[in-house]
Amino acid sequence: MAKMWDGRFVKETDASVDGFNSSIGFDRRLFRQDVRGSVAHVRMLAKVGVLPAADAAAIEAGLQAILADLESGALAFDPGAEDVHMFVEAELTRRIGEAGKRLHTGRSRNDQVALDLRLWLKDELGGIRAQLAELVAVLARMAREHLDTVMPGYTHLQRAQPITFAHHLGAYIAMLRRDHGRLGDCIARLDLSPLGSGALAGTVYPLDRAAVAQDLGLAGVTANSLDGVSDRDFAIEAAAALSIVMVHLSRFSEEIVLWSSQVFGFVELDDAYSTGSSIMPQKKNPDVAELARGKAGRVFGDLVALLTVMKGLPLAYNKDMQEDKEAVFDAVDTVKAVLVPFTGMLASLTVKREAMRRAAAGGFTNATDFADYLVGKGLPFRSAHEASGKAVKYCLAAGTSLEDLSLDEFRTFSPLVGPDVYEAISLARCVDGRSLPGGPAPAAVAAMLDETERWLAAL
Ligand code: ARG
Repeated sequence: MAKMWDGRFVKETDASVDGFNSSIGFDRRLFRQDVRGSVAHVRMLAKVGVLPAADAAAIEAGLQAILADLESGALAFDPGAEDVHMFVEAELTRRIGEAGKRLHTGRSRNDQVALDLRLWLKDELGGIRAQLAELVAVLARMAREHLDTVMPGYTHLQRAQPITFAHHLGAYIAMLRRDHGRLGDCIARLDLSPLGSGALAGTVYPLDRAAVAQDLGLAGVTANSLDGVSDRDFAIEAAAALSIVMVHLSRFSEEIVLWSSQVFGFVELDDAYSTGSSIMPQKKNPDVAELARGKAGRVFGDLVALLTVMKGLPLAYNKDMQEDKEAVFDAVDTVKAVLVPFTGMLASLTVKREAMRRAAAGGFTNATDFADYLVGKGLPFRSAHEASGKAVKYCLAAGTSLEDLSLDEFRTFSPLVGPDVYEAISLARCVDGRSLPGGPAPAAVAAMLDETERWLAAL
């Protein structure tokens, strides 16, 4: 098949090379951005007098018609085209003739593809940010209902100190808000037009780069033509930010798996968000959470693929960079696909308040509070820690818990203990007492949720 670049060749490319070289199988997903970029380019070419206005108008109309036909399915991608850029340009020329051949004036596929990928990521990352905000809103609503739902907080997966379910959810709200911010930072940095970089060394035409950027809604233009075509930091950064999103969703998933197990029994998944077993009739499995946890690996893989493709490349463009697209698409597709059922799974979760409370009451989660109580009576913390530890040892041997000790028993660990100890080590007090900003006390969590709701409202 004739190539747009075959003027200097005497032989046809081998069929295996055509197939190997082709990217239209995946970069067809950039067609909207490709047309948008070409329309902005051609308008500018007319404005600066490089193209006659009539040609530019014919090109723009032709591109818009191609876009409409691709959207409707009236026009099919030609799998034989080398890539989406070649396909659109060839189709344009097929439709409008000579004028179509002027579209690529002052442009290279190198700056074109860099632009397309930036535009695509800007659109998609914006959508993921909206999904993250939706998940934060769901978590904030759930947390509001569980300000007083006491559960054990863990370190080393050992019961540590009592917290509330709202406070635990608040930790994920904080993580997801950082993710939202990170994707915003990524968008702010990729928001530049590389057009005008040409193949690598700019171009001799008097292009108005800023006008193109403005037309495309981008904040500015890239600073160096070599970097403009060979920079994929924005793709790596997006994959890195998406990887961190997946770290958070994966950790949350692990907790859902634990909590929904018979051992914890803290939550029950809605039937609509769980699955059964083909052999064991009693099973109700947390597949959504497990699959979300598993999908994290894909996204990390995409990040590592991008880093590895880029690490040894000399400036400027190299064909290796064609490999960036599938990794970027996969990372974006995966995060989007996880967030939908993940959000639904959480929104429909049944919380077993009593089981959480029982677990918080076991495991001596108030031992620190007993030590703090003794500190309040004047004992140095280190000595109080030891006294409380001895009380725990005693309870373990006796098969009882701190709050069930008699006052006489308590006094064997410290004569400072008075009848107010029971109130001081009650679960409600343990939680209420931790009222610093960021702590689990209902008022502190409510303040965090207020701030989160203001943040959501201002998005
Ligand atoms: N399909 C190519 C890519 O994705 C477009 C750029 C081709 N540039 C070139 N000089 N061969 O990277």
